[in-house]
Amino acid sequence: MRVHPMTGIKRQELLTAIGIRLPIFQAPMAGVSSPALAAAVSGAGGLGALGLGASNVEVAAHMISELKERTNCPFNLNVFCHQPSTRSLEVEEKWIERFQEHFMMEGGTSPSMLREIYRSFVANEEMMRLLLAVRPRVVSFHFGLPAVDVIQALRAAGIILLCSVTDLAEAQTAVAAGVHALIAQGYEAGGHRGIFDPSHPDDQLTTAALTQILTRSLDVPVIAAGGIMNGEGIAAIMKLGAAAAQLGTAFIACDESLADDAYRAALVGNAGYHTVMTSVISGRPARCLANRYTEVGRTIHIDEVPAYPVAYDLAKALNAAAKRNNRTDYGAQWAGQGAPLARRMPAGELMRTLVNELELATG
Ligand SMILES: Cc1cc2nc3c(=O)[nH]c(=O)nc-3n(C[C@H](O)[C@H](O)[C@H](O)COP(=O)(O)O)c2cc1C
Repeated sequence: MRVHPMTGIKRQELLTAIGIRLPIFQAPMAGVSSPALAAAVSGAGGLGALGLGASNVEVAAHMISELKERTNCPFNLNVFCHQPSTRSLEVEEKWIERFQEHFMMEGGTSPSMLREIYRSFVANEEMMRLLLAVRPRVVSFHFGLPAVDVIQALRAAGIILLCSVTDLAEAQTAVAAGVHALIAQGYEAGGHRGIFDPSHPDDQLTTAALTQILTRSLDVPVIAAGGIMNGEGIAAIMKLGAAAAQLGTAFIACDESLADDAYRAALVGNAGYHTVMTSVISGRPARCLANRYTEVGRTIHIDEVPAYPVAYDLAKALNAAAKRNNRTDYGAQWAGQGAPLARRMPAGELMRTLVNELELATG
């Protein structure tokens, strides 16, 4: 079913409008989600997703065509809508200097300058053309919204639009701009916080509180994200009003994810019990497994950190140098607070398990 450009979607209509059976959305995870993962989730009746935020248009097109080869089912394509960074050469130079000793310890060379490694969708017409050409059933925005004419063009193409929000004000802005449904991202969530402007105070709402605030205040479907790891969690959040649940961390240890061995081992090992919200890795707040990098970051003030995603350029270079020494404790191992509950299995099997648990929990 195609949604008329100007109509809204009711909570109970969301799954039918998208054309899926199950209220289980796999979170788009740039660098971790793969066409195989998205296809397995969509093929099982949920909504698979590709995170395109860190990809240029050629890589994105390649991933999308692989996904389309693997499935005819609906899927979600996700883009980052951060405001292009305001850079400070002084901050960047000091940042490089600060991490010089770490590069030396790892036998690497620190970069002489940093780059803005990803282009925001708000300034990426090529990516917009690709989305309009592909016409996925769903497009989702993270870190904010694109311009209203872009939203209108995507809606007019029959695409259902979702946006991650972290409080009521962001939710109201997203609905007024024309998104069909909201992803209520709680503070427990793994990966980057979808907060529109990280320089604003963050109320750090939990998934349960945010979901209820949004469902009580707004007449659009709410998809809950953050700390949901099993069917019992999906049932609980739906009882609180969510139309569906979006799970990220639960899928990281699946065979089809792009997470490397060290990341998977850390997630399901002792490290999984310790996550931190930090801006030092990429320049924006994100939750990851605590490691050497986050430890260094504990004493750093946000004003000293280069803008997103410029800071991430250095973090990636340092991780690459450390990895050459078989050290993985500088890696950006994004994970939510539910990490210890992650299960290592193929995504299709995880979907079956989630459905069984959900059925048992809802009777
Ligand atoms: C490894 C990882 C990467 C992520 N990358 C993205 C992304 O590219 N786009 C996005 O909208 N959300 C991203 N997120 C956030 C998810 O959309 C979602 O909010 C989060 O996974 C929910 O919390 P959970 O991890 O506890 O399930 C990412 C999350 C993780 C764990």
